[in-house]
Amino acid sequence: MLTPPAADAKRVLERLERLYEIGGGLGANRPAYSAGEDEAIELAAGWMAEAGLDAEQDADGNLIGRLSGRQPELPEVWTGSHLDSVPEGGRFDGALGVVAGLEAVERVGRCERTLGVVSFRGEEVGCLGSRARCVNGSLPDAFVELHIEQGPRLDRMGAQLAVVTGIAGQLRRTIAFEGSAGHAGTTPMDARDDALVKAAEFVLHVRDAAAAIEGAVATVGEIEVEPGAANVIPGRATVSLDARAADAEGLDRLAAALGVDVPPRNYPIPMSGEIRSLLREELESRGLPPVELTSGAGHDAAVLAASGVASGMLFVRSLNGGVSHSPDELSSVEDIALATEVLTAALRRLANVS
Ligand code: HGY
Ligand code: MN
Ligand code: MN
Repeated sequence: MLTPPAADAKRVLERLERLYEIGGGLGANRPAYSAGEDEAIELAAGWMAEAGLDAEQDADGNLIGRLSGRQPELPEVWTGSHLDSVPEGGRFDGALGVVAGLEAVERVGRCERTLGVVSFRGEEVGCLGSRARCVNGSLPDAFVELHIEQGPRLDRMGAQLAVVTGIAGQLRRTIAFEGSAGHAGTTPMDARDDALVKAAEFVLHVRDAAAAIEGAVATVGEIEVEPGAANVIPGRATVSLDARAADAEGLDRLAAALGVDVPPRNYPIPMSGEIRSLLREELESRGLPPVELTSGAGHDAAVLAASGVASGMLFVRSLNGGVSHSPDELSSVEDIALATEVLTAALRRLANVS
C-alpha cells in the first residue's frame, strides 16, 4: 500500500468535515437545491477564491472555479463532482470529488489549458445540474471525476484505487397503484381493492426480476400511501423505482420485466479510453495494480460522456464494507492522499497538451 504524507489530505479531510456539518442531523443533509446545498456551494466558492480561481455559478446553479491557462483559447480540462447529498448521506459521496479536485488544481498550478473545478447541482436527483449544463453551457474537452467507490470491491481486493471503465445504465420511475379507499373494519377481505397490497406485490416482483438478471439491481426506496390512515384501506399507493444494469442487454431485460421503457440517455456509458489508459499509467508508475471497475452508481461523468466530453473516473477505496448513502461511509486519509496525488498528475498531463 502506498501512503503519501497524510498531511497532504489534511485540508481535504477538514473541508469534508466542514461540509458534513451543514444541515445538522445524522449524516450529510444537503438535499438538491436546498439551503444546505446552497451553503455548501458558497463554502466551496470561497475555497476556490482563496486558491486564486475565478469562481462563478452558471444559470443552473452549477459552481465552476477556473484557473486560466496560458492558452485560454484551448478547450478546458475539468475535475469535480457534486455537493448535494442523499438524506443522512456520507462524508465523501460527491464532496470528495469537489474538495480533492480543488486541492489537485491548486497543486498543478497554471497550465497551457484552463483548469476547472465544478460542483454540479442536483446529482442525487438525476444529475439535473450536469444535464442542464450540457444543454445550456460550454463544456470541457476532458473531465476527470474522483469519487468514493461506494462498494466493497476495492477493499476485498486490498487495492486503494481503481480506474472506472463505464457507468451502469439506470432507470428511475414513479409508479402509482390505484385501489378503492374503504373502512378497515367493515369491508370484507373479498370485497377490497387495496392499492398498497398491489404495490407490495410489485415491490417483491422488482426484487425477483433484478435477482434473475446477472449484474442487475433494482430498488423501491420510497412509498406513499393515501389517504394514509390506519383504519382506511389504501386507495392509492405510489412507489419509486430505481433499476440498473451494467450492460444494455441487462437493462432492456430488466425494463421489460418491470413494464417500463428505456430512454436512450439511460443506457450504460463507457469512459474515455484515452483517460482510462492515462489513469492506469499513473497507477502503474506508482507500483499500484491497474485495477479497473465498472460503476453501479450513477455519476455526472456519465452525463458529460454522453455529451461527447472525454470523461474518466478514479475510484478511491470504500471501507466499512463499502457502505454508502449512509453516515457510515468511510475512506482512509492515506487512500485519499494517494487519490489526490494521482488526480493531480492526471490533470497536469491533460492540461499541458497544447
Ligand atoms: O444513485 C446514484 O447512483 C448516485 O449516488 N447518484
Ligand atoms: Mn450518491
Ligand atoms: Mn455521487
